[in-house]
Amino acid sequence: SRQWRGVIREYADRLDVTDATPIVTLGEGGTPLIHAPALSRRTGADVWVKFEGMNPTGSFKDRGMTMAITKAIEHGAKAVICASTGNTSASAAAYAAHAGIRAAVLVPEGKIAMGKLGQAIIHRGDLIQVQGNFDDCLDLARELSANYPVHLVNSVNNDRIEGQKTAAFEVVEVLGDAPDFHFIPVGNAGNYTAYTRGYREDIAAGNATKLPRMFGFQAAGSAPLVRGEVVKDPETIATAIRIGNPASWELALEARDASDGYFGAITDEKILEAQRILAGEVGVFVEPASAASVAGLLERAEAGVIPAGATVAVTVTGHGLKDPQWALRTADGSDIQPTVVPVDAAAVAEVLGLSA
Ligand code: F0G
Repeated sequence: SRQWRGVIREYADRLDVTDATPIVTLGEGGTPLIHAPALSRRTGADVWVKFEGMNPTGSFKDRGMTMAITKAIEHGAKAVICASTGNTSASAAAYAAHAGIRAAVLVPEGKIAMGKLGQAIIHRGDLIQVQGNFDDCLDLARELSANYPVHLVNSVNNDRIEGQKTAAFEVVEVLGDAPDFHFIPVGNAGNYTAYTRGYREDIAAGNATKLPRMFGFQAAGSAPLVRGEVVKDPETIATAIRIGNPASWELALEARDASDGYFGAITDEKILEAQRILAGEVGVFVEPASAASVAGLLERAEAGVIPAGATVAVTVTGHGLKDPQWALRTADGSDIQPTVVPVDAAAVAEVLGLSA
């Protein structure tokens, strides 16, 4: 058949699975790498956008979740648990639903986007709002999985990273080699770690000749990797990356150093500006956290760090429809009110400034 078979079947020889593995898939992966002339013009580089919002639950988490749930089932788990800022919980609930097992999801109270909350609930996850932040939720999920029969599916579970590394394979397949730079949003740094692993494996396999310089971006109010210390009360409108104590801290620093990489911090204002540029000039609508990578690219290009003509891949991690409220706001924070007209062509033409 010509249908994409999900990352486990497509990359079975590069993942820890056998013919007997009970694969749980929703057809994740195979996402478009979209050439972006508008971003290329703005930066002088050759820019490609890896649109991970095209996954089944609308984020890159599905690549890791197909592996994590598959391996959980292989180990006989009847229930999984995760901490989440929203996307992991949506993905865990969907894959657990497909597999017919329970998913308990712990989220910070009042701090996840409405679309993600709705996803976890409609997929029948056991959604629990915790009176704390993501880092508190992760501590709880680790403690519960250590003491109760629930299997942890956060990215501290290596199966998640293994599934997520497949995104790098896809980038290399399209470009014919690794890009010179890879830009990516960072929360726990699990995905940053996963791409680095994927590129390294592609070098070892002879598919790529180089490791891209890995450039990761956090929100300014939640930038522990940039500041070099835990952030106790992380804040940002990009709730997906509102994380003060990244789980993959050490792995991420190793990957940055090995790739001549970089971690930067982006203000919420710049995140929203990049979100509007990407949607308005490239046609790709992403949630705010995902726009941190685009903002990072624009900022680094402005700083003169990106050589003309360099090949740049930019991962945008989650779909804009998960958290659409930001689309209805202007740059100065006021609400956008679409114009209302009577049923009259001349009135529409006038609003559009058209003359016959
Ligand atoms: N972008 C989005 C849209 C995310 O949801 C996340 C993480 C990240 C980027 C950062 O990825 O943690 O691997 O560095 N979301 C997690 C969640 C924390 O619970 O959905 P990371």
